Amino acid sequence: MTDRYAVIGNPIAQSKSPLLHTAFARQFGHDVRYDAILAQPEAFRETVLAFRAAGGRGMNVTAPFKLEAADLADTLTERARVAGAVNTLAFGPEGILGDNTDGIGLVGDIQDRLGVALAGRRVLVIGAGGATRGILLPLLQTRPAGILVVNRTAARARALADALAGQGSLEAGPLDAAGGREYDVVIHATSAGLNQGEAPAVDYRMAAGGLAYDLSYGEDTPFMRQARARGAARTVDGLGMLVGQAAESYRIWRGVLPDVRPVLEQLKLA
Ligand code: ATR
Repeated sequence: MTDRYAVIGNPIAQSKSPLLHTAFARQFGHDVRYDAILAQPEAFRETVLAFRAAGGRGMNVTAPFKLEAADLADTLTERARVAGAVNTLAFGPEGILGDNTDGIGLVGDIQDRLGVALAGRRVLVIGAGGATRGILLPLLQTRPAGILVVNRTAARARALADALAGQGSLEAGPLDAAGGREYDVVIHATSAGLNQGEAPAVDYRMAAGGLAYDLSYGEDTPFMRQARARGAARTVDGLGMLVGQAAESYRIWRGVLPDVRPVLEQLKLA
């Protein structure tokens, strides 16, 4: 029996998820079919329920439906609740589980693939939108020395820090709050590079051997160039996180974690 999964979004044609999950299934010899489903903006819920009724086992959810997916789920994991967004739905006998694997995908990429242990590190996160919400709890759970979140709209960063009070060392402020301090890991999570071709002007310094991680994609993004000018030893884009979040979804559905490296190489060539 073929097990069916799908990614749902609008638009959806650009999604890499079918390629990723098909490659994962091949690693294990699993009999899996993974489709891309376009849902009309007002038809998210009925499209999900129809897929489940037809025997679907789980779905990935992408823009603009991640918040609606959180509403639809019967149960949310803590990280999905904190993120306020769901990218993975699992259909089981107890109902629909909603999870968010973006943060753990990022943490896995940094720690396992790139070999940078986050415990005890000074981490700077630039941006306080949906992308940042999705990653903060898993980042805090690695027990960094501290995380500073800076944002153009400082109040948004402070609201995120308030929501995570007690979960670890987390501070928030305006873009200039990073001023002149040194960080081991800097994560860029704004949409600025996409829209204006510029990374936000944040005055951080990179510690020796520091890692700069852009959540957007590109061989050499504006943020990666900026970080190199600030002394970053290594700069990477978000493709590793993309593969990592997919691998964690696969694990939720099927109990095994795929090997991300060959799939990441395949994606770079695609
Ligand atoms: P996403 O879901 O992609 O995170 P979002 O929730 O709209 O999208 O958040 C976009 C992020 O990029 C925010 O942190 C936003 O800053 P504000 O909260 O001040 O709007 C940030 N951003 C977008 N354009 C920016 C720019 N030109 N300079 C600095 N930050 C920018």
